[in-house]
Amino acid sequence: MPGLTIGDTIPDLDVDTTHGHFRIHDYVNGGWAIIFSHPGDFTPVCTTELGKIASNAEEFERRGVKLLGLSCDDLQSHREWIKDIEAYTPGCKVGYPIVADPKREVLKELNMVDPDEKDSTGAHIPSRALHIIGPDKKVKLSFLYPATTGRNVDEVLRVVDALQKSASHPVATPANWKSGEPVAISPSVSDEDARKMFPQGYQTADLPSKKGYLRFTNV
Ligand code: BEZ
Repeated sequence: MPGLTIGDTIPDLDVDTTHGHFRIHDYVNGGWAIIFSHPGDFTPVCTTELGKIASNAEEFERRGVKLLGLSCDDLQSHREWIKDIEAYTPGCKVGYPIVADPKREVLKELNMVDPDEKDSTGAHIPSRALHIIGPDKKVKLSFLYPATTGRNVDEVLRVVDALQKSASHPVATPANWKSGEPVAISPSVSDEDARKMFPQGYQTADLPSKKGYLRFTNV
């Protein structure tokens, strides 16, 4: 069976976390959420990533995004590790829950296993997977990085802005787009509808094909 991917509903799993036991759907609760996995507690790259995410908590909150970390170690280990994370990234407070998954059950359901990395007991460890969940509980975007490559939290915030922009307007965000920059009108919108939908106007790129499909506007 193919793993969890864009468009799938996030499984409503029971999870044990540093903030108690809950179901994922109750946690997401009709809003945006990000679930991100880490190869293990007390590992270098993970320690920097969790700190960076924690220090951007206000940015996620401003966008209405809840955070949920996952690492396979147990809750006691997570609690000890959080002290290191907060010490390494001064001023950061790990305010989001971290799932404990010693049996690797959540990890498999969420398609977060790294097939190449195993721990000292030979058990699979998580990849650096990250799913962005929309208010309909469906996966809107996923990252899948190997254990050796840390994620860029600015990029996570950028894609949240892009997803939220496309969720509220019939637009798509071009390469390297950042919040505040022009967006492309979706190809499914006719010119006639575009004139009504975007009274502020739009610019069409003059391309050799003359097909007029590259239309930029500001929303
Ligand atoms: C790390 O977090 O630094 C790491 C974890 C597992 C394998 C490689 C790197």
